[in-house]
Amino acid sequence: QRPLRRLLSCPGTVAADLRREEQSSGNAETGSEDRTPKKRFSEVQNERREQAQRTVLIHCPNKINEKKFLKFLSQHGPINTHFFYESFGLYAVVEFCQKESVTSLQNITRTPSLGPEAAIPFKSRYFNLKLRNSVNQTSELSSIQCSNQSSPSSKKLYQLLCCAESVDDQLNTLLREFQLTEENTRLRYLTCSLIEDVAAAYFPDCAVRPFGSSVNSFGKLGCDLDMFLDLDEIGKFTAQKTSGNFLMEFQVKNVPSERVATQKILSVIGECLDQFGPGCVGVQRILNARCPLVRFSHQASGFQCDLTANNRIALKSSELLYMYGALDSRVRALVFSVRCWARAHSLTSSIPGAWITNFSLTMMVIFFLQRRSPPILPTLDYLKTLADAEDKCIIEGHNCTFVRDLNRIKPSGNTETLELLLKEFFEYFGNFAFNKNSINIRQGREQNKPESSPLHIQNPFETSLNISKNVSQSQLQKFVDLARESAWILHQEGKDRPSPSSNQPWGLAALLLPSVTNNVPLSKKKKKPASERIKNLLDSIKSSGAENSIATNGR
Ligand code: GTP
Ligand code: MG
Repeated sequence: QRPLRRLLSCPGTVAADLRREEQSSGNAETGSEDRTPKKRFSEVQNERREQAQRTVLIHCPNKINEKKFLKFLSQHGPINTHFFYESFGLYAVVEFCQKESVTSLQNITRTPSLGPEAAIPFKSRYFNLKLRNSVNQTSELSSIQCSNQSSPSSKKLYQLLCCAESVDDQLNTLLREFQLTEENTRLRYLTCSLIEDVAAAYFPDCAVRPFGSSVNSFGKLGCDLDMFLDLDEIGKFTAQKTSGNFLMEFQVKNVPSERVATQKILSVIGECLDQFGPGCVGVQRILNARCPLVRFSHQASGFQCDLTANNRIALKSSELLYMYGALDSRVRALVFSVRCWARAHSLTSSIPGAWITNFSLTMMVIFFLQRRSPPILPTLDYLKTLADAEDKCIIEGHNCTFVRDLNRIKPSGNTETLELLLKEFFEYFGNFAFNKNSINIRQGREQNKPESSPLHIQNPFETSLNISKNVSQSQLQKFVDLARESAWILHQEGKDRPSPSSNQPWGLAALLLPSVTNNVPLSKKKKKPASERIKNLLDSIKSSGAENSIATNGR
């Protein structure tokens, strides 16, 4: 039970389009994909942002008459959609059809008087609803149907995985249970939009955009909310409007570098969030980090937020991962399982350190899928060749160009099952020549390592950087040992699967349980790693004619 509990405490999030996933997951075995046109990343982002700007967040009394509540709000204009959720109280997310309705609601809202305390009169889109006459209304109050914002309990996940029909079914079940729901995605965009209102006090045309696993389609329920303060929109259009002989420029303050500018801006916004950002608590300004950020908790939504600025490349990385996640329905299922597996065995952690990150694991899965025959995913260089003039994107001198229209990429002809892919993933990386090779999704093949870090995964856009530079030799070894062990478990099971009635954990459920390596007494473990025993077993399985092994796995 313990590792499952650990697994469920793992950060979780993801990408938005639940309906698309449901449509396509049924096709995983054949590899045939849903042919309905897929939206571009920027289209999704813009639609969601606009939707969030018409939305309000309301802290409600614990019991409320839903019909009357909606009728009351409808005085300000028609409501498009709404939902309730619980997080230390009852909250409602209400999306109006028009933005003006929000202003109308703000106009009838008062700033509370709190007795001896004083309120900072910041008029946001986060409200508190009170009942004027709670005694008289008690008879009309009813409990509300709440949308769930957290991942399933360990018991439920365990049951679901054990009851699944196949390993493929298990991977798809895990994806379905952990991926971001429509409501959770809306709440993420709304939270960014509320922070944008605070930042807009200084920079009226700024945008606060979510990036990372909240939008790249690989987030699990409960994962952090990475957001980026985008000031580039400011002045973009005004510059083109000037005509004639005159050119107007703003008088500005100059600072020594882009980094210093980012630090100053984040310092001020951090201060604003701390001093008058409703619901923003535990604000920390971590301005000397490689990527300066403001970290805080947004109490009402329950999200741990990381706000950065001047971080366009990370947004582009999110777009690239979103594309890869949307190209084939097997990608997300595999990434979710590998991320959960890594978390269950403490290969990843929410504390920064020498651990592998979810971002690196995702890159490893993408690379592995590029190496299949025929490939399941195209290389980044290939996506660049499909780009047209409008796709051209250079950020800080780095060429970040790739085709953004998903419909122009031909689906893969590869029909391998998720079960096979999971097994081969572990086998591939259990035997990868990490000591000499680098993982490179741009070219889709191993390259010689340019430096001596134990794990080298090339940053796809800043190609001279290694995204896993932090990973220590011992953490890499732990990953390799566990990968070999997991490959072995799946191989063994393929031969002799426990019957569902035996109540034994099998397939993916077995991989999430404590490892064989952990059960070896410490004294023995020091002398001879269990991984060696497993590697020998693996070799013997292979030499007895295991199918589908990869010729180029760098051994
Ligand atoms: P979670 O663990 O679910 O939060 O995954 P995540 O993808 O959101 O990772 P994280 O919050 O650590 O980072 C957010 C985003 O920043 C990632 O998706 C990447 O786009 C980017 N990022 C994270 N780590 C690195 C890194 O080491 N190098 C570069 N270039 N970008 C990174
Ligand atoms: Mg994140």
